[in-house]
Formats: sequence, C-alpha cells, structure tokens
Amino acid sequence: MAIVIRSFRADDAPRVAEIVRRCLREVNSADYPADVVDRMCEHFTARRFVELSAERRIYVAEDGRVVGTVSRDGNQVYSMFVDPDVAGRGIGRLLMDHVEALAAAEGHSHMEAGASITAHRFYLRRGYDDVRENDSGFGLTYLVRKPLQPSAG
Ligand SMILES: CC(C)(COP(=O)(O)OP(=O)(O)OC[C@H]1O[C@@H](n2cnc3c(N)ncnc32)[C@H](O)[C@@H]1OP(=O)(O)O)[C@@H](O)C(=O)NCCC(=O)NCCS
Repeated sequence: MAIVIRSFRADDAPRVAEIVRRCLREVNSADYPADVVDRMCEHFTARRFVELSAERRIYVAEDGRVVGTVSRDGNQVYSMFVDPDVAGRGIGRLLMDHVEALAAAEGHSHMEAGASITAHRFYLRRGYDDVRENDSGFGLTYLVRKPLQPSAG
C-alpha cells in the first residue's frame, strides 16, 4: 500500500502517542539518559497531541495504519517520529518533503528543526546545517536550518 501524508485527526492521537513513545524507549534511549526519556514519554500523551493540534499543523503518514508523524508551525519542524518497525523505508523523507513544500509555498526562505542526537544525521543528510546546540529538560538537541527553494506561483 502506498504511503499517504494527511492532516492529523483527534482520533489519531492514541496511535501517534504510541509511535512517539516506542521511538523514545526503543530508539532515542540509545542517545539520551533514562530520566530524559521518561520525561518525554510523560509529555507526549495522546491528550497532548490533541492540544498541540490547536497550535501547530500535525501530519501523519498512513499505510493502512498510521506509521509516522511530523508537526509544523510556519518554517519550524517539530515532533518527527516514525514507527521503529518501518524505519529506514523513506517515511521520514516523505514527511519532511511534505512540510518543507508547505513552508516553501508560504514563502519561507528556510526551514528549521530541533534535531535529536538520534536524528541529527538524518537532517544533515537532507541538507540541513547546524546553527547551535540547545540543552533543555528534554536533553541535547541541535538547531538545524536548511534553505528552501521558493515554489512557483
Ligand atoms: C529520524 C527518523 C524520523 C527518520 O525516519 P525514517 O523513516 O527512518 O527515515 P528515511 O527512511 O526516510 O531515511 C531518509 C534518509 O535518511 C537516512 N537516515 C534515516 N535515519 C537516519 C539516522 N538516524 N542517521 C543517519 N541517516 C539516517 C536514511 O538512510 C535515508 O538516506 P538516503 O536518502 O540516502 O536513502 C526516524 O528514524 C525516527 O523516528 N527516529 C527516532 C525519533 C527521532 O529521533 N525523531 C526525530 C526527533 S527530532
């Protein structure tokens, strides 16, 4: 089945929260201390995603079922997560293509993301450059930035 990227609906929230927590426990846990992983798992509940959907555009990748998510506010990317069972199959790339194209269509000249240690190389590979490091309650992240091609029309 082909992957479709579509807008988040409130009834996606439990599955999105499940994907995020699985990533945190099974993937990001290699790069972050247990207390940071616990804090993030407590933060990213289904209810939190419904709340966030009022503040940001949230998208999901669907392949029969939801397999990944990304959020966007203007030219800022947040919360990119792909089900670890289907990682490495191009779903993260499709999600990023989607939000970068939307930001370019709105006239933004560049895109920014707060990359996890785990995803840092994924962003560098997509043409993002390091701006600075951030250290918050959610551990070390890298602010990364990439120029966008203005879209025609
Ligand atoms: C980072 C993540 C979103 C990537 O999604 P994905 O669907 O596995 O990535 P894709 O299959 O689309 O990979 C696209 C390219 O990036 C590369 N890539 C993916 N993850 C990578 C990583 N962690 N390090 C280096 N390269 C990576 C792939 O090899 C591929 O390269 P190619 O273009 O040469 O083929 C996913 O692995 C994930 O959810 N990680 C854990 C959660 C996380 O840290 N999220 C980011 C928060 S900022």
